[in-house]
Amino acid sequence: MKKAYVIGSDVKKSLSPLIFEYWFKQNNIVGEYHSREIKPDNFDQEIKKILEEDGVCGFNVTIPFKELIIKKIDRVDEHSEKIGAVNFVSKTDDGWIGKNTDWTGFSEAINVGEEILNKKIAVVIGYGGASKAVIYALKKENFQEIKVFNRTEEKIKHLKNDRGITPINLEHLKDHLKEASLIVNTTPSNPLKSILIEKKIKQSMAFDIVYKPQETDFLSNFFKEKRLYGISMLVYQAAPCFEEWFGVRPSIDRELLNLLSAQIK
Ligand code: ATR
Repeated sequence: MKKAYVIGSDVKKSLSPLIFEYWFKQNNIVGEYHSREIKPDNFDQEIKKILEEDGVCGFNVTIPFKELIIKKIDRVDEHSEKIGAVNFVSKTDDGWIGKNTDWTGFSEAINVGEEILNKKIAVVIGYGGASKAVIYALKKENFQEIKVFNRTEEKIKHLKNDRGITPINLEHLKDHLKEASLIVNTTPSNPLKSILIEKKIKQSMAFDIVYKPQETDFLSNFFKEKRLYGISMLVYQAAPCFEEWFGVRPSIDRELLNLLSAQIK
């Protein structure tokens, strides 16, 4: 029987096993998918075990290993190479290959309606692994300008050489919110906490990568119909992984979304 994992330093409560279990049943597939918590100090030895274990067809990778895993596998696909991070690894005849579906998951999560996406200015808050996939997706979506804000300015300085991207210190965020058509939070915090949110800002589309609780403090600043939820990115990034490992493209139906919503109230 084929099996897969999600690995990370804090995955005991990951929703990915629930998603995979749902799809196993939906498609009458006998398979296994488990979370496997790995502390950073044990990363080398635990990865070696997984790569040598019988029956493993692949694994998802989450915080804080999305970049570190690249050195442990045989190659990465074109998108992961450009993003600099991998969120799943598959066993192939050519060895272990790393790929990235965070960026496609994000694109699918924001493309929810016709009128929704005005692709002028996107504001991205935070610059970690997830943010890099978000920025990659926004470029592919042809946003005219992507403004990237980070608390540690040093980490984003190099982005000024990238056409269409403007790196800005997080302390200036409030001056740029009004003109944004999409505001994306990729930090675990609420970066709008001490900012006065005017009506014009409430009308922008907003996406929070944090999916638990579903209604985060960050999202509560925006009109309900303008909120885009992190949980949809989680489900969309998982579907191609399931397909690659178990041979069937699973469907994302209302029952699955309800099941997940109940877990993240
Ligand atoms: P992930 O892989 O999920 O993106 P990460 O790589 O740890 O996680 O990145 C977290 C991002 O959130 C970083 O941009 C971090 O800012 P710094 O580069 O300054 O550390 C940002 N972040 C985390 N906690 C934050 C906070 N309380 N306020 C503002 N930004 C925060």
